[in-house]
Amino acid sequence: MEVLWYLTGPNGRYPWRADGARALTYPYFQQLARAVDHLGFTGALLATGAHDAWVQGASLIPYTDDFQHLIAAHPPLLSPTLLAKMITTFDQFSKGRLRVNIVNGDAKLIAQFGVHLSHDERYAYTDEYLTVLTALLRGETVTFKGKYIHVVDAGLPLPPYQRPIPPLWFGGSSKAAHEVAAKHIDTYLSWGETPQQAQEKIREVRQLAAQYGRADKIRFGIRLYVIVRDTEEAAWAAAQDLYDHMDEKSIAGAQNYVAGIDSIGQQRMSALHHGQKPQDLRELEIAPNLWSGIGLVRHGPGTALVGSPRQVLARIQDYRDAGIEVFIVSGMPLLEEAYRFAELVLPHLPVTRKTEQGITSAWTKERDTAWKNQG
Ligand SMILES: Cc1cc2nc3c(=O)[nH]c(=O)nc-3n(C[C@H](O)[C@H](O)[C@H](O)COP(=O)(O)O)c2cc1C
Repeated sequence: MEVLWYLTGPNGRYPWRADGARALTYPYFQQLARAVDHLGFTGALLATGAHDAWVQGASLIPYTDDFQHLIAAHPPLLSPTLLAKMITTFDQFSKGRLRVNIVNGDAKLIAQFGVHLSHDERYAYTDEYLTVLTALLRGETVTFKGKYIHVVDAGLPLPPYQRPIPPLWFGGSSKAAHEVAAKHIDTYLSWGETPQQAQEKIREVRQLAAQYGRADKIRFGIRLYVIVRDTEEAAWAAAQDLYDHMDEKSIAGAQNYVAGIDSIGQQRMSALHHGQKPQDLRELEIAPNLWSGIGLVRHGPGTALVGSPRQVLARIQDYRDAGIEVFIVSGMPLLEEAYRFAELVLPHLPVTRKTEQGITSAWTKERDTAWKNQG
């Protein structure tokens, strides 16, 4: 299995509030990336956010050794030939430490960049885009005229480091998204719904992938917050502390942002809390140890596993039983919680890391102990 951390805002103890947010500066990212690498995570997700994720990722290559950068790209915002070139450059310079997260955002977001495509058009666009992108990365010379994309005699001067091509990951929960993922994608990601919901999605995407002979080529991942403490009581007390700092103004701000959004993934997340803050935070425990309260104050990933290390490990196992192989986790603040997760949970998971030499190794508890014993 793979466990990735998160290298994008929001960050801080209560990042939705001015008095709880922490600035994400370049030196902080260097520190965070080094920590994630050192702690034994597979790598981290660099989502679209305040910084450009490609510039951010490239700037962190020299600060890490094994760390895999999972970098988000919005298809309609970049020519496929330009993205292919960015991918090969990054892949060469990092010696194969790149995965690309293909994301479609939502109409409001991409309108800010001057792109005005409806929800399903965005996926029709992405289908054409990935056809061209993957052909370029395989080394083909491409002339393609679709409804949206028209490239002539496109080719890459340099191959990627990873063959046949660097892994393409993807998040999107609509029917149109599932079709595109089934056809082109290596790892399909979902925000942290319940294990049962995850299992249903996996079944649907796998069935669609079977139409392209790809049922066993696609694997699945999930993005979750984790609030883990030595005991269950302490973990829920930490969740309560976050909850107590969720003021009306912050909740209204976040819920305003997601109102009317055309992302099905976001609508599914919002349905886990309905934008309402109940008196008792446990009313938002939508499955054992899965808490949807974070969604009240942030869009996108809004659920957290809450519990003791044993409980968090049991819930991770539930997702693994449902077919999930990749976990993208985080906590607030990003740095301190990376250490906490790495100390309480990570050593008990058979995490796969890809070393610089391209050797895949499992970082197990035994290995960790042996290494520590060497001083
Ligand atoms: C794990 C994960 C990470 C995502 N990262 C981003 C991102 O960085 N930027 C973005 O605009 N959307 C991101 N998304 C949102 C989706 O890519 C997708 O655009 C959104 O869910 C709307 O698609 P849908 O209507 O098919 O669900 C992410 C989704 C998932 C599951």
